Amino acid sequence: MIKSCDRLLHQEFELRPLERSDAEGMFAIMSDKEAMKYWSTEPQTSMSQTLETMKKYIEDDSQVSTSSWAIQLPKQDRRFVGWITFFGFKKGICELGYALNREFWGQKIMTKALTLATNDAFERYKIHRMEAQLHPDNVASKNVLLKLGFAVEGYQRLNFYRSGRFEDTLLMAKLRLPHDSL
Ligand SMILES: CC(C)(COP(=O)(O)OP(=O)(O)OC[C@H]1O[C@@H](n2cnc3c(N)ncnc32)[C@H](O)[C@@H]1OP(=O)(O)O)[C@@H](O)C(=O)NCCC(=O)NCCS
Repeated sequence: MIKSCDRLLHQEFELRPLERSDAEGMFAIMSDKEAMKYWSTEPQTSMSQTLETMKKYIEDDSQVSTSSWAIQLPKQDRRFVGWITFFGFKKGICELGYALNREFWGQKIMTKALTLATNDAFERYKIHRMEAQLHPDNVASKNVLLKLGFAVEGYQRLNFYRSGRFEDTLLMAKLRLPHDSL
């Protein structure tokens, strides 16, 4: 089931619902070995793989409940540069995933985009807990989440399989309100 999202404006970028026409921009990221270094799947090698991935993000018959946003830059001809997706919805809880085209790393774009998107999602989807699972070596991603107020909750040992081996994941989460006030 696709959950609705909206258009959210920031002076440097715009968030809007992800759409099929974003496939090319998405493939540029999903086929980038460096960007996919800590991703849950191998770098993609064909556009058809990206289109399959997109189905999960945007098609209504998907088994997964998701809400997916595109990040685009108004000052660069509305160029698609990345995405944010909320998925794994359970009552009051969801997970978060995101990626940005490498050309734009290190400009705080994802920190700002996620601030906007997560604040909106907490309200829109009545979430009290948002989770992210990441590769323990993904320092950039961890830093972004720490700045957003996510806390490290621990390592999930050998719960993730990729490239022929099991690895740990780092579990981080943010609560909408302080724990004591719930
Ligand atoms: C993770 C990602 C989205 C970050 O996007 P970004 O716009 O470059 O992030 P920001 O510029 O907002 O912030 C990155 C932070 O990490 C820091 N950082 C980046 N690379 C780092 C590294 N190798 N070591 C230590 N810190 C690093 C930056 O300095 C910055 O922190 P600061 O604001 O305290 O200086 C981007 O690197 C990406 O798309 N990676 C590939 C996909 C991915 O791993 N997604 C997350 C899956 S959980």
